[in-house]
Amino acid sequence: MDKIVIEGGSSLRGKVLISGAKNAALPLICATILAPGKNILTNVPRLGDVRTVLKLLAIIGAEVDLEWPRVVVDTSELDNPVAPYELVKTMRAAILVLGPLVARYGHAKVSLPGGCAIGARPINLHLKALEAMGATIEIKRGYVEVTCDRLRGARIDFPVATVGGTENVMMAASLALGVTHIHNAAREPEIEDLANMLNAMGAKVEGAGTSTIVITGVDSLHAVEHRVIPDRIEAGTFMIGAALNQGEVELQGVNPSHLTSVIDHLRRAGVTIETRTDSILVRGPSKITPFEIVTEPHPGFPTDMQAQFMVLALAAHGKSIITESIFENRFMHVPELVRMGAQIDVQSRAAHLLGPAFLEGTTVMATDLRASASLILAGLIAEGTTQVLRVYHLDRGYENIVDKLQGLGARISRVPSELF
Ligand code: EPZ
Repeated sequence: MDKIVIEGGSSLRGKVLISGAKNAALPLICATILAPGKNILTNVPRLGDVRTVLKLLAIIGAEVDLEWPRVVVDTSELDNPVAPYELVKTMRAAILVLGPLVARYGHAKVSLPGGCAIGARPINLHLKALEAMGATIEIKRGYVEVTCDRLRGARIDFPVATVGGTENVMMAASLALGVTHIHNAAREPEIEDLANMLNAMGAKVEGAGTSTIVITGVDSLHAVEHRVIPDRIEAGTFMIGAALNQGEVELQGVNPSHLTSVIDHLRRAGVTIETRTDSILVRGPSKITPFEIVTEPHPGFPTDMQAQFMVLALAAHGKSIITESIFENRFMHVPELVRMGAQIDVQSRAAHLLGPAFLEGTTVMATDLRASASLILAGLIAEGTTQVLRVYHLDRGYENIVDKLQGLGARISRVPSELF
């Protein structure tokens, strides 16, 4: 397993092009199951999780042609509506093939995703919704089997705004008989991107981006070409990097309207942010103001930015509080940051941080995707050398992050495992 080595103290300066969104590309690729023919996706990020879901589509019978960042998924002939454990265990978003497979084939067999580092992350709401649409659900030997000749439109009331649950229902309902209403739908930009592609395929999805989505089922959908939206979490991660050590970075190829809450919180911390149509200029202040954050469903503060903002809090002058309300175990980066010298006191879902922290470079362990990004950011402000192990977590969600950071002046390198 490779490691990443960072020398602390450098400021990030220059321009960086942000890649397509992982959390948009995954459902978009699954949605191609609904539309027989050559589906072309552009601005696809070259990531571990994207490769995994494309492998899954190939197992299901699609023809996949990779010319990164352009991907062609030909779903004319799918013949195997099964998502095996070996793939699903590495990437829980594989559950997003469930809705499309049942909608197109009337049957699907998907391995239950199993545990995840950041929380139990059950799929009960996905299954309950499909059941409300007339599907029969059977769980045996670690797999969920869903059967239904033709799904029917239904009223779905989600008790929590689930991104994956909303996406699965949108895709399933696109080919159902009748109208489906989703209440308390997730409102993330990735939901809107999926709705835009489904509508281009011939679906009738209204209200995406609001908490009520109405889908009128149609009999068939057709293949399309679609560009994946920019990755707002990659963008937010680089914005934190720019804010540290008084950096100055222009992010290109972004959509500032996807980052309203992140921009608002950075400005409150004293960071200068200038936005244009598809770029954001970030200037780090000499003194970062401490802050309080609670993670919420979009348009609230994104849980996927919580670990990265902890590093900003450690560079701030005073006490900050960060509360994680979405996932029950998303503070695994805390013990690693404490090993670097951070003062962080976790009380239930709230982390109390004291800055400015004098962090010392050392060897730390990545535990999940966004935690690994926060450890790299911590390495930027630590004194000396920080080595981050298990960087395969990082490869799942950040395209060429070492090259991009090097391009901004970070003293960072990736050491292949055979060298140590
Ligand atoms: C998506 O996960 C994202 N992943 C996550 O990003 C993100 O953190 C999360 O949404 C929240 O924004 C992708 O889009 C591929 P949820 P998802 O269903 O859909 C509970 C990253 O770092 N819940 O919105 O799995 C669940 O336990 C990843 O890029 C149920 O109880 O998240 C959680 O507490 C990490 N039952 C809450 O809802 C269900 O059936 C929100 O989860 C489904 C969810």
